[in-house]
Amino acid sequence: MTPLAKHIRDTILATGPISIAKYMQLALTSPVGGYYTRGQVFGRSGDFVTSPEISQMFGEVMAVWYVLHWEMLGRPSKTAFVELGPGRGTLMADMLRASRRFPDFAKSIDSVHFVERSPELRKLQHAKLGCTPESTKYVLDKSAQDTPATALSNTGNIAVHWYDLLEEVKLEPDCVPLVMAHEFFDALPIYKFEKGTGDLWSEILVDVADSKDEAADASSKMGTVVSKLEQGEDACHFKYVRSRNVTANAAFILRDQKFSAMFDKGDHIEVSPESAHTMTLLAEWISANKGMGLVVDYGQDWTQGDTFRGIKSHKFTNPLSSPGSMDLTADVDFSYLRYAAKDKAACFGPVEQGFFLHSMGIQARLQQLLNTTRDASVQKNLVDCYKRLTDPHSMGRIYKVLAILPKDSSVVPIPFTPPKAEELNKPKIEKVVK
Ligand SMILES: C[S@@+](CC[C@H](N)C(=O)[O-])C[C@H]1O[C@@H](n2cnc3c(N)ncnc32)[C@H](O)[C@@H]1O
Repeated sequence: MTPLAKHIRDTILATGPISIAKYMQLALTSPVGGYYTRGQVFGRSGDFVTSPEISQMFGEVMAVWYVLHWEMLGRPSKTAFVELGPGRGTLMADMLRASRRFPDFAKSIDSVHFVERSPELRKLQHAKLGCTPESTKYVLDKSAQDTPATALSNTGNIAVHWYDLLEEVKLEPDCVPLVMAHEFFDALPIYKFEKGTGDLWSEILVDVADSKDEAADASSKMGTVVSKLEQGEDACHFKYVRSRNVTANAAFILRDQKFSAMFDKGDHIEVSPESAHTMTLLAEWISANKGMGLVVDYGQDWTQGDTFRGIKSHKFTNPLSSPGSMDLTADVDFSYLRYAAKDKAACFGPVEQGFFLHSMGIQARLQQLLNTTRDASVQKNLVDCYKRLTDPHSMGRIYKVLAILPKDSSVVPIPFTPPKAEELNKPKIEKVVK
């Protein structure tokens, strides 16, 4: 058993079964071997590949969106890129490089602000933006001496700041934030509930399993996604259990009776209050500072039931086996994010990634890049990457883009349409298929 699995087991033995949210938070970000405390998890040799890692075209096209809206918002003289969960820093490096094609916009970029908890990923971001050791101040905590806190990037002498939480990000009063959250919300913890009789919900919790068979059996009885996935070779020390009574989480999160009444007995739903909290903060912040933001992630525009899963070596796997050894994720409920931003900011979309990238000119950029080489294999690779990012059967449909503008903004961002009144109301519901 790894130290992290032992830590989770001891926690459960001491306090009883834990929420999936607690399990996810420990497995992903615990300093005792949480998944994101390791650095090399991305790329073909890692567990998953994200859009910015597939091709530079992704970040370049995203930069064009910010430039266009910076123009539409009256060319503010001071801006800052703020990225939540920047991974290896590739997206930011590509956006900064592409921004230099627009000198007035580039001149406005005063600083970069990364919300990143992983010390290892902070180091990769530091290197990717060409930050020098001489310009770097490190986190004061003795156990994390080489974790960067601020530095100067050699890409345009831009100050780079790191934070654990969005709440900590401080911009100068006249600085307009350009926010990006790419594959961030899918990593935030979810709670999972099952509807019983009447409006009573039980919570699906994580308990200690005596054997791998018991873990698999309990999970399949629970109708969780693991029954449809490979079990993996790793020993599984945990299983799902239903809470006997209504938990405080169930009572609080599902207190809206109209919402609760829309589900049937036996339905499962996944809810991420941390996502809602982050989205509310973002919305308030973007409105207060006259900024703009994009949320790009996989998910749907409604509430879902059984999408919690592990990802290891590019395959879906049992999220309860070997915590810390795999990414844990759940599809994003964009309707819930929009609802969390209601009355705080103007949200647009989500639209599908393929549509967004095409509208922002990815084909023209592909053509430019194809023209720079005569090497057929390089050209083929460029076309393959373009297809992967935009094809509806690949990442073009499941990945979606949501835009956030200040509440009082009269601008409708490209390529979005104004939201319909009913979209602003409640999270939508998908009938759960078990
Ligand atoms: C799936 S990766 C995406 C990385 C990058 N945006 C990309 O697309 O390549 C998730 C990122 O969010 C960070 N992260 C996860 N949970 C976090 C949290 N609660 N607070 C801050 N960062 C978090 C991870 O460390 C990682 O950088």
